[in-house]
Amino acid sequence: MNNVEPATILQMDKESFVRLSTYITDVYGIKLPPVKKAMLESRLGKKVKQLGMNSYKEFLDYIFSDQGKKKELLNVVDLVTTNKTDFLREPLHFQFLSDVLLPGYVRKAGLKSIKIWSAACSTGEEPYSLVMALEEFKRRNIGFDYTLTASDISIRAIQTAHRGIYALDRIETIPVEWKRTYFLKSKDNTRKLVRVKPAFRSKISYKRINLVSDAYGVAHESMDIIFCRNVLIYFDKTTQEQVIRRLTACLKPGGILLLGHSESTMGMDVSLKQIKPTIYQRPYASA
Ligand SMILES: C[S@@+](CC[C@H](N)C(=O)[O-])C[C@H]1O[C@@H](n2cnc3c(N)ncnc32)[C@H](O)[C@@H]1O
Repeated sequence: MNNVEPATILQMDKESFVRLSTYITDVYGIKLPPVKKAMLESRLGKKVKQLGMNSYKEFLDYIFSDQGKKKELLNVVDLVTTNKTDFLREPLHFQFLSDVLLPGYVRKAGLKSIKIWSAACSTGEEPYSLVMALEEFKRRNIGFDYTLTASDISIRAIQTAHRGIYALDRIETIPVEWKRTYFLKSKDNTRKLVRVKPAFRSKISYKRINLVSDAYGVAHESMDIIFCRNVLIYFDKTTQEQVIRRLTACLKPGGILLLGHSESTMGMDVSLKQIKPTIYQRPYASA
């Protein structure tokens, strides 16, 4: 007979759930309906125990105290976010970038350098996929260059992105030639790890940007292309529309916004023209 007691999961009382979920939704836009209580308990339970606390009430009183806000609140936000991502996720977007968007930009006289933003970049697979596509294009188009900004609200995700170290099996979807060009294998064969080469890691500047806040710190009409994929799904419709409007304001006229496979601007009053499913263009100003 197995006498091992199952690990007990600390239950979150209703009041604490409402307090935490209201905060996360108000500040970060992430919807947390009651069905998400179990998810919060499984993600936060360890942290509560680590802090030596026995209830969520005690935990929340602490994280919302002056000291807790400084020391732990952002770690809690890290635990609440879902960072699922992959290299070359939704490959049609990268194909469209390489075959249509980038050639279009270089055809335009004088446009030698473009600005791209990976908003909600998670642990870096998306911005590094962009680096690979952009570098390949750059190699064939002398004089072309780019600046790439990547942002997220999760500090832990940004740190992982910045380090650029991944399990070997994470890069399976990348063409062999690209793996050789952009990654270094760990010298220690027992550790199945790869790291993005320094020259390519340095192509990305990271920022912590909350897409739901007013101040992005990104200049008006400064971006040529924005990837904002698989994050709007966590927001309600009104918040999605507000975020898309703000992102649109950051795009140059003619600039392109790419959303995730299940996201769209349908039913929203936004100044974007759909050019492909999930791909939108800010119209050029009319003469
Ligand atoms: C599922 S991942 C998507 C990553 C990547 N864009 C992709 O499509 O593979 C969603 C990311 O959105 C981030 N996120 C959630 N709410 C956010 C907000 N209010 N502002 C910025 N990023 C947010 C999360 O931290 C997470 O890393």
